[in-house]
Amino acid sequence: MSAPRAGRAALKKAKMPARAPAPAPKPGPRFPVGNSTGPKTLPRRANPLLTNIANMPPTPESTTTMSSRVMTILGVSALSISTYIGYLYASYRHEVKQSKSLTVPHDVSDRYNHTAGTFDADVAMSEQLMGMGSKRAALVERAHGNVLEVSCGTGRNLRYYELGERRGFDTQGRVGVLGCRSLTLVDLSPEMVEITRGKFEKRFPEQKARVEFRVQDAAEVSRPGFSVDGKKHEGYYDSVVQTMGLCSLPDPVKTLKHLGTVVDPEKGEILLLEHGRSYYDWVNNILDNLAPAHADRHGCWWNRDIGQIVRESGLEVVEEKRWHFGTTWKYVLRPARVGVEVQKS
Ligand SMILES: C[S@@+](CC[C@H](N)C(=O)[O-])C[C@H]1O[C@@H](n2cnc3c(N)ncnc32)[C@H](O)[C@@H]1O
Repeated sequence: MSAPRAGRAALKKAKMPARAPAPAPKPGPRFPVGNSTGPKTLPRRANPLLTNIANMPPTPESTTTMSSRVMTILGVSALSISTYIGYLYASYRHEVKQSKSLTVPHDVSDRYNHTAGTFDADVAMSEQLMGMGSKRAALVERAHGNVLEVSCGTGRNLRYYELGERRGFDTQGRVGVLGCRSLTLVDLSPEMVEITRGKFEKRFPEQKARVEFRVQDAAEVSRPGFSVDGKKHEGYYDSVVQTMGLCSLPDPVKTLKHLGTVVDPEKGEILLLEHGRSYYDWVNNILDNLAPAHADRHGCWWNRDIGQIVRESGLEVVEEKRWHFGTTWKYVLRPARVGVEVQKS
């Protein structure tokens, strides 16, 4: 058991040195303040204990220490930034030199047979940073009825389709038929089509619409067939979707013109989300300088003028929008109606 409390306190007291008694306070305040009376009173602001240290005049030593430390930090930062910019510029010049020395064929679409397996991982980060998910969603939600998607790649749009038809309000607030009655997914690369098929089977285990996968050139897709009383008829697609495809097609104008013949001439729409030239010359210079190397590696000509391709296709522009310095393009197009002049400027 421990010693009783009183005993321990007595022990502690005995070990502590005796404190000298405090001197008796002098009468009156030690430093007279503003509200005291009498002739020696200082104004409150002049009281040395209350004076703000920031208002004190700097000593020569403190000024020298501060400014030399700030100068050192600024100097090191400037040197690091300029070294990094110099490194970037040197790498860019090197890439440009290499890019311009390459002989790249105009048709680079076969590259996707080799890059299909890593395609999703390669584009995931940049698509996320650019907010492409919501742009894809807004485009694909507009597709309805018999839907054709060309250059479908690894099926990055699959998650935005609604399979099966229903009545509801469309993206413009109009009542109509929404969702897909049928979905046809087409790509030139068999590897890409296989990846899309695998994703589709996982995402839609139940069959809610007719779905077809085809390895085919987008410029050769025929109109959809249906049969009535045992007789075969040709119909039209209600919506044609293509995202990030014009950059890879060997003849994008010809393909767009063809897609205009398989979509319903009255109500059909061609929905595009593409990437290409910018509003700005300096961005276009970078795209142009690095285009051969990029096309050779990734199978995509990223410096194409998407607006020019659309104008040359002769399709009617219903909607046009651009983002990311103008390099991301959205189009809603429809076949030019007879008697309606399509603006070519
Ligand atoms: C940049 S990827 C885009 C894939 C996908 N649409 C997306 O948004 O992620 C271009 C795709 O176009 C396909 N492609 C290239 N030429 C084609 C053609 N003539 N017909 C159909 N698909 C083609 C390529 O195989 C590739 O899958």
